Amino acid sequence: MRIIIEDDYTKLSLTAAQIIQKQLLKKPDSVLGLATGSSPLGMYKNLIAMYKKGLISFKNVHSINLDEYIGLSENHPQSYHYFMAKKLFDHIDIDKKNTHIPNGLSCNLAEEMMAYEALIDRLGGQDIQILGIGENGHIGFNEPANKLELFTHVENLAESTIKANSRFFDKIDDVPKSAISMGIGSIFKAKHIVLIASGIKKAPIMKEFFDSTVSSLLPASFLKLHKNVTLIMDKESANLIEEIKNY
Ligand code: F6R
Repeated sequence: MRIIIEDDYTKLSLTAAQIIQKQLLKKPDSVLGLATGSSPLGMYKNLIAMYKKGLISFKNVHSINLDEYIGLSENHPQSYHYFMAKKLFDHIDIDKKNTHIPNGLSCNLAEEMMAYEALIDRLGGQDIQILGIGENGHIGFNEPANKLELFTHVENLAESTIKANSRFFDKIDDVPKSAISMGIGSIFKAKHIVLIASGIKKAPIMKEFFDSTVSSLLPASFLKLHKNVTLIMDKESANLIEEIKNY
């Protein structure tokens, strides 16, 4: 695992965007595995700026998102469809037909799960998969549990996740209780995984991540088994890790 510690979120976001930029210059028809949430927001802003300057194009890119809430329509302001449109897709030259996000309104979720996993395979896996990390160690919506699902599946959200994500909703009762999410095996189809951790709230879980061996109770710890992971942290999120505190 390559570890990059940046001074702050601004620098972290630029570094993450530069990794994508390099990938797109090498392979313009890359498959990008994307995430929602606060962590990649700065990276998306940088990618939009690079596109506007003519430094990169998404014309031949396929994107495949990690997850979507069950029960929210694409137009719901808290749906991940809406997030991706507003924060990235509406501002770049990606062909919307080539953007993929699980359908949380499917009336046949079993079929949706299988079709989504087959899509990842058909695209040849993600060239880069961007991940954030939950305060409880989840990646995608793979919540800490005694056993983890391998592939795209329906996940009941942990209480702590519902609480953390309630910051985006009017009230906590509005937060969906379940989501359709790539599994750890789906994430592992990526040739390169980039995990972004930022802010003081992530410091305790990043310390645990460093201290732990591989455990389903800390789903992100499985990334230690993947051969090509880049972890980008800012100083705040690395604050409790003795070895790199003064990095
Ligand atoms: C988002 C996702 C989640 C988030 C995680 C961190 O698509 O799958 O795993 O990456 O909850 O969220 P933020 O970045 O908001 O702290």
